[in-house]
Amino acid sequence: MASKLLRKKTVEELTASATPLKRTMKTFDLTMLGIGAIIGTGIFVLTGKGALTAGPALSISFLLAAVCCGFAGLCYAEFASMVPVSGSAYSYSYVAFGELIAFVIGWDLILEYALQAATVSAGWSGYFNKLLEGFGIHLPVELTAAYGTTPGVTTYFNLPGFIVVLIITWVLAVGINQTKRTNDIMVMIKLAIIILFIVCTVWYVNPANWKPFSPYGIYTFQPGSSKPMGIIPAASIVFFSFIGFDAVSSSAEETVNPNKTLPRGIIYSLVISTVLYIAMTLIMTGIVKYPDFANFVDAPVAGVILATGLNWLAFIVNLGALIGMTTVMLVQLYGQTRICYAMSRDGLFPKFFGEVDDKHHTPWKGTWFFGLLTAIAGGLININILFELVNIGTLSAFIIVSAGVLWMRHTQPDAHRGFRAPGVPVTPILAIIFCAVLIAGLTWQTWVRFVIWFAIGLCVYFGYSRRHSKLNGRPEPAVADIESGKGPEPLVD
Ligand code: ALA
Repeated sequence: MASKLLRKKTVEELTASATPLKRTMKTFDLTMLGIGAIIGTGIFVLTGKGALTAGPALSISFLLAAVCCGFAGLCYAEFASMVPVSGSAYSYSYVAFGELIAFVIGWDLILEYALQAATVSAGWSGYFNKLLEGFGIHLPVELTAAYGTTPGVTTYFNLPGFIVVLIITWVLAVGINQTKRTNDIMVMIKLAIIILFIVCTVWYVNPANWKPFSPYGIYTFQPGSSKPMGIIPAASIVFFSFIGFDAVSSSAEETVNPNKTLPRGIIYSLVISTVLYIAMTLIMTGIVKYPDFANFVDAPVAGVILATGLNWLAFIVNLGALIGMTTVMLVQLYGQTRICYAMSRDGLFPKFFGEVDDKHHTPWKGTWFFGLLTAIAGGLININILFELVNIGTLSAFIIVSAGVLWMRHTQPDAHRGFRAPGVPVTPILAIIFCAVLIAGLTWQTWVRFVIWFAIGLCVYFGYSRRHSKLNGRPEPAVADIESGKGPEPLVD
């Protein structure tokens, strides 16, 4: 029994499972894919909540989250270059830790990607409504957000977010080429708009607004509240802004020369977004005094622009925010379908999710299935519940990937690595510590919800996946073979 749970795939097995996906992505496309996934709701929506939680020290929170992602990103890049197949952390853990952990992480990633796109659809809806209001169009308020999103306002369903997720699902279902082109153009526009924001508003910064710099310190509780405040809790919130670079590694099977392009795509996209975030946060908290973010917590970037009086810029940036969030959803839903594809190919999920359509070369049915679920989740669930769950799911995945790098260096020191993370073992250890600290900054309710999701996953594994795994019937390799990286002959799908 235990050996079944721990049965592993070898690097050779994973890379030998040839697939009909087309290889079209290069470093530039991957970097665009990464930035497309990274810059979105985090900076356009969650900075408001972040500023209220940490004050101007929010820039330190961003730095903390960036450093955490940097360490984890290096580990992701090493694993991605070693196991360049679809499935991201899921595939990596199949090699390092065996089937049970791989399933758990795959389950975790489904939560991460699907709920992330749902979270972003909620942020998207807020900016979309603002844009419509600019033209004098008002949607029925009940249909602008999920139930309970805005205190004192009766909302039931996030209809604009629901519709945009369905449109994106359609784009994804018809094929990667179209998706890539659409994504590249949208990311360029998003970057241009962020740079425009920085250049136009930096002159309005009043350094007096940066005092007190850190009103809540590093980690504290306000009397009568169970919600932590300070630099770490704000980092746990804005960590969301950096999620996405890991989706790059999910596209390994559609990448040209993945050993080189994957790590580059991950690292380039992370560095570019970090620089932009730090600049934006310093400017935002320098223009608006931190408690005033409460007045426009749903659209803080738009609020900061209005405080400068540059109304023309507000329209352009609202549009940019919408485009930015659209690309995020595109990449997340894309990553999500690829995880399901990999899990289905391995037999841990039903075949349905892995069937590749001959015409479009995409896992068409799985894309629609999860697209619909995501659209419904974004329509019905409060954004504050969604993003915290996404963060805890992602941080847990980062911990497992970082531990996997440590483990693989120990057990398979000579395996080919197109990219080697510098500073091992310190880098993965620091990644694990930073992730644990950020998990500690989330609310306890989120920990409980995560444990429930996890328990459901274990039921699925023991109820379905273990019996349907493609590794069933494979001769069990000797432990010595696993440890040395030699397994049985590659499986042929
Ligand atoms: N990093 C992505 C965003 O901020 C998820 O929207």
